[in-house]
Amino acid sequence: MEKIIEENKQGNSLVLEQKEGNTKRLFIESYGCQMNFSDSEIVASILAEQGYNTTQQIEEADLVLVNTCSIRDKAEQTVRKRLDQYNNIKKINPSMKVGVLGCMAERLKKQFLEEEKIVDLVVGPDAYKDIPNLLKEVEEGRDAINVILSKEETYGDISPVRLNTNGVTAFVSITRGCDNMCTFCVVPFTRGRERSRDPQSILEEIKELWDKGFKEVTLLGQNVDSYLWYGGGLKKDFEKASEMQKATAVDFAQLLDMAATAFPKMRFRFSTSNPQDMHLEVIEVMAKHHNICKYIHLPVQSGSTRVLQAMNRQHTREEYMELVDNIYRIIPDISLSQDMIAGFPTETEEDHKDTLTLMEYCKYDFGFMFAYSERPGTLAARKLEDDIPEEVKKRRLTEIINLQQKMAWERTQRFVGQTVEVLIEKSSKRSDEHWSGRNSQNTMVVFPKENYKPGEFVNVKITDCTSATLMGEAVGYSDMN
Ligand code: SAH
Ligand code: F3S
Repeated sequence: MEKIIEENKQGNSLVLEQKEGNTKRLFIESYGCQMNFSDSEIVASILAEQGYNTTQQIEEADLVLVNTCSIRDKAEQTVRKRLDQYNNIKKINPSMKVGVLGCMAERLKKQFLEEEKIVDLVVGPDAYKDIPNLLKEVEEGRDAINVILSKEETYGDISPVRLNTNGVTAFVSITRGCDNMCTFCVVPFTRGRERSRDPQSILEEIKELWDKGFKEVTLLGQNVDSYLWYGGGLKKDFEKASEMQKATAVDFAQLLDMAATAFPKMRFRFSTSNPQDMHLEVIEVMAKHHNICKYIHLPVQSGSTRVLQAMNRQHTREEYMELVDNIYRIIPDISLSQDMIAGFPTETEEDHKDTLTLMEYCKYDFGFMFAYSERPGTLAARKLEDDIPEEVKKRRLTEIINLQQKMAWERTQRFVGQTVEVLIEKSSKRSDEHWSGRNSQNTMVVFPKENYKPGEFVNVKITDCTSATLMGEAVGYSDMN
């Protein structure tokens, strides 16, 4: 692999990994969750073996792939608009092929080839290894589609090509699919049943990243706490595993412990945690290792037990609060973030107030908040009327967002006066004279560059802040270097 340094829109240098001798050009872009961005790196790696190097210039691409998201209707509309833009480019460059990957491909299947005349290729999240065969079909003038979901596929044997990377932080997938069946969510239908990746292959991928100079890895899964390796297969079939497999199984707390121990100078994050599967062992492992970041993304969706039940979340308001109490008890300086849905079917003003009071109780540093969007095929769409008027959803969402902003402001201020450890990622968006990076709690920190470099851990004395950013001055290297 050869490395090419390019500038992105923010003026930050990006490293592009290119295989020598490759002549075809792939333009790949991703929408939606971090898992999609990580999957695109797997696809780029599969295509690097087929003669494709990635390009940032869509006009010169032989193949354009878009990795899509179905989580809300708006996400799908964004992709459809993008496809229109591809269509205009295809008019200038008719030999360019266009493929749709990911959740929309899985959800809409053949419909895509019929509705969107410009799409040549439709590939679901478990079928990326079939892309070389599918491309042959396309070359022979046939539409190509593979949306088969797998019981086994984890892409554990593929070493991803890092796309648009800052060379410092990277994602590593540890599970695929989700078995939770939250009634609002399309993911179990588009990404299939849950399966975990062999821990050995995870550690090998982390080692490769370490050797390339990366300093932070985020372990990814729809529900990382549910990670369970017992020799392959679906999580739901674990009961049928042999006694030997059960005795040697590795869970998420063990995986995290193994990774943090094996790479003591690599920082680890993970996402996403589901409250029902997050056990105290994980929090204890986090407390034990300095190099596991003190930040948990812990979506709750609603503060009302009645709504949580209708969502098929497997915990009550009180159980969630107890989990949060335990987290703050074991790791007092932790940051938490939430996902929240406003206006789920049947949600009353009382339920909405429960959401606001739960938020105040949990003191989240960050939040990702959405108005309920009915997704075809989900249990909620089949069983519950989308009965909350749009303006009520919007008003409740605004109240949730306003409260989150107020809390973020209060939470961020706690760092002022403290010295925090920061991993330098890139130039600050606002100023070329400043570096930006995150502290352990995931808050962005900006400080004058001096002679420090990306990939270095520095201690930064915080002097000021906005609601989302800390400002300060470096006072020296940290022990993590
Ligand atoms: N476990 C996953 C969740 C993916 S969906 C993860 O890795 O993050 C991300 C968030 O989108 C959910 O937590 C939920 O808050 C929101 N979401 C999912 N389905 C939705 C829907 N139908 N309408 C509105 N928001 C939704
Ligand atoms: Fe979706 Fe719930 Fe899984 S939000 S991804 S079904 S944990």
